[in-house]
Amino acid sequence: MINHNPQQPVAIVTGASSGIGLGLTQALLERGWRVVATSRTISKSKDLHSSPDLVLVDGDAGKKETALKVVDAALKHFGRIDLLVNNAGVFIAKPFTDYTEADYDLVMNTNVASLFYMTQQVIPPMKEQNSGHVVDISAVLADQPSGNAPALLAVLSKSPMPAVSKALALEYAANNIRFNTVSPGVINTPMHAKGNHAALAKFHPLARMGEISDVVGAVLYLQNATFVTGENIRVDGGVHAGR
Ligand SMILES: NC(=O)c1ccc[n+]([C@@H]2O[C@H](COP(=O)([O-])OP(=O)(O)OC[C@H]3O[C@@H](n4cnc5c(N)ncnc54)[C@H](OP(=O)(O)O)[C@@H]3O)[C@@H](O)[C@H]2O)c1
Repeated sequence: MINHNPQQPVAIVTGASSGIGLGLTQALLERGWRVVATSRTISKSKDLHSSPDLVLVDGDAGKKETALKVVDAALKHFGRIDLLVNNAGVFIAKPFTDYTEADYDLVMNTNVASLFYMTQQVIPPMKEQNSGHVVDISAVLADQPSGNAPALLAVLSKSPMPAVSKALALEYAANNIRFNTVSPGVINTPMHAKGNHAALAKFHPLARMGEISDVVGAVLYLQNATFVTGENIRVDGGVHAGR
């Protein structure tokens, strides 16, 4: 059944079962959005409560069939798509030559193929609406790698995002579809074991880890900033500025 209310915008959030994606989904629901939340295990989530404004779709974000299912659910239930947040991601840090073929496939599938397929599928409805916005969650270490904490697959998978946002911003400007990137520093999510938090805080000039609300705030800012497109906002406690 379509829950048609043009006053209520509609978002798709990938990687919504945990961390930044979960926080963003909760923040959007609190602000009156309708959300299609997706991840491999989202239907088992204990953090997201049943609501007419929330649809959960299980699936691997790196597969085209998941993108088709997610977009179909958004249009069937809510009739439009205003925002896609490509947030699903995995992080594997190790010396470059220790990476395996399985590491490569997992990271590139989750971080890159997901962006490709999800973004492709939201373009036709956004073109039809003559409006829309896509935000990709990158990582500041793609731009400012650290010799002490090597993570080449994070660099390889996350560094294209600002360029992708610029390219698509230009390709679809005439359709009033915006594309932006958010590049977090190290954020306090289940991605990082508590025992590492003190060391991770030191990575940032502001001497703390970022909070999920810091990243959510940047996405909400971009959503409201209707003259901003092709931009990359660093939410990184000053890491990009240098040391
Ligand atoms: N935390 C940080 O310090 C940090 C820093 C920079 C950038 N980021 C980026 O921010 C994003 C969110 O990170 P986070 O810290 O919130 O991570 P997180 O807490 O580990 O959550 C990752 C999310 O991605 C989903 N996911 C993983 N593989 C997936 C797949 N193949 N298909 C669909 N969903 C998948 C997970 O759900 P399921 O297991 O249910 O699939 C989960 O919802 C990632 O792109 C990450 O690279 C994080």
